Formats: sequence, C-alpha cells, structure tokens
Amino acid sequence: MFDSLKNKILSKKAKIGVIGLGYVGLPLAMAFAKKGFKVWGIDLDKDRVTRLKKGQSYILDLKPSDIVNMQKDGSIIFTSDISNIKKLDAFFICVPTPLLKTKEPDVSFIISAAKMIKKHMKRGQVVVLESTTYPGTTEEVMLPILESTGLKERRDFYLAFSPERIDPGNTKYFVTNIPKVVGGISQCSTEIAALLYKQIIDKIIPVSSSRAAEMTKLLENTFRIVNLGLINELTLMCDKLGMNIWEIIDAAKTKPYGFMPFYPGPGVGGHCIPVDPIYLSWKARAHGFEARFINLASEVNEHMPQYVIEKMISALNKKKKALKSSKVLLIGVAYKKDVQDLRESPAFEIIEILKRNEAKVSYYDPYFPYVKLDGIDLKRAKFTKEVLASADCVVIVTDHSNLDYQFIAKNSKVVIDTRNALKNIKNRSNIITL
Ligand SMILES: NC(=O)c1ccc[n+]([C@@H]2O[C@H](COP(=O)([O-])OP(=O)(O)OC[C@H]3O[C@@H](n4cnc5c(N)ncnc54)[C@H](O)[C@@H]3O)[C@@H](O)[C@H]2O)c1
Repeated sequence: MFDSLKNKILSKKAKIGVIGLGYVGLPLAMAFAKKGFKVWGIDLDKDRVTRLKKGQSYILDLKPSDIVNMQKDGSIIFTSDISNIKKLDAFFICVPTPLLKTKEPDVSFIISAAKMIKKHMKRGQVVVLESTTYPGTTEEVMLPILESTGLKERRDFYLAFSPERIDPGNTKYFVTNIPKVVGGISQCSTEIAALLYKQIIDKIIPVSSSRAAEMTKLLENTFRIVNLGLINELTLMCDKLGMNIWEIIDAAKTKPYGFMPFYPGPGVGGHCIPVDPIYLSWKARAHGFEARFINLASEVNEHMPQYVIEKMISALNKKKKALKSSKVLLIGVAYKKDVQDLRESPAFEIIEILKRNEAKVSYYDPYFPYVKLDGIDLKRAKFTKEVLASADCVVIVTDHSNLDYQFIAKNSKVVIDTRNALKNIKNRSNIITL
C-alpha cells in the first residue's frame, strides 16, 4: 500500500481532495492543481462553491483568472458532494476551529469532517489535518473516528497533522515557499504526508508525531500573542511616561540580532492569534497547568479597544466635546491590513463601545460595502473630503495599503492613528498615535 501510494504521488496520478475551501484550503487546493494534480475542492458552503464555479475569488490573494483557468483545464473541481471522497488518494482537512462562547475550543467542525470522511473512506488513503488545534486532536479525536470504520492506521490508511502557516495579505510568503512541518500518527504516515507536500513545497520539516506538529503551530502563535501583549503593555507604559512607542521600536529594531519588532494596535484580531493560544491554555489546564503568559497577554490585548476609546475621549475633550453625540469615523474594519476578513476584528469592540456611549459611528473600508455582525449593521460611508471633515474624530483601525493617508490627515479635524499609518505626514498637529 505504501509503495503504490508513493508511486501515485510521484507520478502526480494521486487524486487530491481539500475539505474546507477557506483562507487555508483554497490556496492549498490551487497549489496542487498548479503542479499538475487533479484536485477536488470540497466545501459544504454551497454559496462558496457557486462563487468558485463562476470564477469568483473571495480571497484577495487569489486571482479569479487562475480559478477560471484551473476549472477550464479540468485540474480542479469545486463541489459540495462529499461522496467524492471515495475517489481520492489523499485529502486535507482545512475546516474552522473557533472558540465556543465559553472560550473553550470548538472542534465540532473537525469531528463532523471526520464523520463525513468515515462514511466514504477506503483502504489506501492518506488524510492530513491542517486546522489549528490543541496537541492531541489528530490522535485523540480524528483517529478513533476513522478507525471506527474497521480500517487501521498504517495498515489501511495514513493520518498526519501539518499546521498551515499561511499569512493572508503577505505578498512575499505563500503556501509554496513557507516551510511545512509534518507529523504523522506513525512514521509511515509522516513519510507519506511529507512526500505529498514535497510535490508543492520546497522545504519539509518532519517531526516525531502529530502531537509535536500541533504543538509547533501553537508555539508559533503563542509567541505572537505574548509579544503583541508585551508591546501593547509597553505602549500603555510609554503613554504614561510621555514617550512614543513607535520611535522606540524603530530604534530597537536596528539591533542586528536578538530583537524582533512587534507593533501595537487597536487589539489583536483574526481567526488565529487571539484564538489558537486559548486552545493550548485549555489543554494545559486539563493537565493541571496554568498558561500564565497566554492569559496575561490576552488580558492586555483585550484592553486595547478601550485604550483607543480613551484616546478618542481625550482628543474630543480638548475640543470641548463629549463622546456622546460626536461623529466618529473608523478607517478600516478588517482585522488587519489588505485582507477581506472581519473575524475577531477589534473594530467591532470599538464600534460597540462607541454605540454604548451614544456616539454617531460610521466607517470606511475599501473591502466592505456594509458590515453586519453581532448586532452591528452599518453601511460604508463615502471616502470624501466632506465625510472626513464632518467627523469630530477619525480613527485609523486598519491601515490598508490602498488608502490615501495624506488625504485623510489633510481633511480630518483629528485622527487617532492606531497603526502609525500617518508616520510620514509632516504636519502632525491633528494626529494622535497610540
Ligand atoms: N486564516 C488564516 O490565516 C489561517 C492561517 C493558518 C491556519 N489557519 C487555520 O486553518 C483552519 C481553517 O481556517 P480558514 O481561515 O481557512 O477558515 P475558513 O472559515 O475561511 O474556511 C473553512 C471552510 O471550511 C468549510 N467547512 C466547514 N466544515 C466543513 C465540512 N465538514 N466539510 C467541508 N467543508 C467544511 C466552511 O464552509 C469554510 O468554507 C482553522 O483551523 C484556522 O485556525 C488559518
């Protein structure tokens, strides 16, 4: 079985499936199709599948023309039909791993994907989980479901975990040039999954187990949340000490070793950084270990939207205005620059606090004509001189690259710049940074 699967992979005859066509799954499916594999992109969201069939891209990094051409030449098929699984030799699971309202891991998407696979699985397949999750998920959650078919890992199928490290909006690093960590349930599973990835990615890093691969991803994201928490705390500290954190970071990053710059912001958003480390602290707690750094960093980061509001209040006070009834215009609502993604965006917390305080909130974001989420229902304002000038306070929440910051600075009464997007503006009399 091992050699036959290996030969199929090396001859590009292996049929590839990607389950979950989001920010992770779609680029992966397209990377395999580009390398000459026949790929089935499977998603239960019929709307996403319909859009892909029409050649529409809902991910800014992926070109609609590539989506059209790959379907035309038959290298990729988009479908919601799960029974295609029985045709496949290898498939990747890229489903969401959010948090429950209780801030506990929600692995229900992984469980339902595994149960779905179970119905159509056959001998000789390799399954790889890519969704970020707590150490042990592949072995403790996926494996028992797949083995309940009577098939056995290593004897009948292979199972591995490989964390996705994609950074949406990053124009330098994408699926194929980011080294890939792979850990299987058995050595054979590691080898076969590594061989698969080797067909599209230059550098593969095999690790001892699926658990080690899961933990690697959580180390990476915990490193980010903790450093963001640190820099956000130093931002609050610098404010009290009358110093500009941005100047300090720029100076510190000239050190050629031992320092890596992290930047403050209005809060930490996205599907990964505020969420994944909570998966780890939950798992650690179940083993009687309290992950203090993660808890503290989350606490500091969660305070940042309130800090932005305090900056607004102080700026408005100087103009003898109260937050109540003031017009506040947010520039950018995406969780980070150059992405069309609102998940966990700090903009929502800021809007909610503003609404509670009866401010008149509007926003402009080139990627969202309207925002409807968690009780917030807003239509995009126009990006004009008049709109900027009529706001009592403009807040840059997301620093998209395609915005004219000179224009924003020139036409606004006062700007709270949470991203240092106005760093090159000379006349700074109306600009307040974090
Ligand atoms: N977004 C990122 O930048 C990023 C980076 C690295 C890792 N991750 C991790 O990758 C995973 C996926 O993230 P994403 O951002 O691509 O999520 P996403 O929400 O954009 O996409 C997930 C897709 O899975 C589909 N889906 C859910 N259950 C399904 C099922 N049973 N069968 C078929 N399709 C199903 C959904 O309809 C959705 O289209 C998460 O675990 C995330 O933490 C995300």
